[in-house]
Amino acid sequence: MIYLRETNGGDEVLVMSWHSHPLIQQGFYSQCNNRPLEWEEHHRWWTLTTKDWKKLMVILVENDIDRSIGLIRISSLEDFSPQIAFTIGEVSLWGKGYGTKAVELALEWLKDKGYKHTHTSIPKSNKRALALLKDLCYNIYGEARKGEVWLQRTI
Ligand SMILES: CC(C)(COP(=O)(O)OP(=O)(O)OC[C@H]1O[C@@H](n2cnc3c(N)ncnc32)[C@H](O)[C@@H]1OP(=O)(O)O)[C@@H](O)C(=O)NCCC(=O)NCCS
Repeated sequence: MIYLRETNGGDEVLVMSWHSHPLIQQGFYSQCNNRPLEWEEHHRWWTLTTKDWKKLMVILVENDIDRSIGLIRISSLEDFSPQIAFTIGEVSLWGKGYGTKAVELALEWLKDKGYKHTHTSIPKSNKRALALLKDLCYNIYGEARKGEVWLQRTI
């Protein structure tokens, strides 16, 4: 079983370690260009994006232990169609359906708040994320930035 909870300051270091993993970095449009992520840039991202962004930890319950396995980012909350970004930080858990479940929970979160639309943008090379979003009935709307697919979905 997985569920979402609000992030807190104690999550920042764990998320930095996830975002430092080369396989995870490959999934994002903005990458570190083959250099290690630095604390200052991570901290800037973590703190500056707090106001209009919702960050939720993905928690897996396994053998009676609740542990953080991923992050959902929803932005901007002021937009009629907030963007969902998603990471399963424990790479060894990929391919088990947790990414799909986490995005489904994020869609439920948005629906509960009354949103009717959502979007996301994914590098064309990120076949895993694109397969996941296709399964969740996202429609390709066009190109966002160069080499990046823009997907929309009604909630
Ligand atoms: C994208 C991500 C969240 C997927 O997590 P996950 O737990 O592996 O997701 P799921 O297991 O639910 O689904 C993965 C889908 O990709 C498919 N897939 C797996 N490997 C693949 C590959 N090499 N090429 C294409 N599709 C692939 C799986 O078959 C599955 O689709 P299916 O349900 O139709 O079979 C995870 O890989 C991740 O955190 N990546 C780094 C961050 C990122 O890229 N985030 C997205 C941009 S915001």
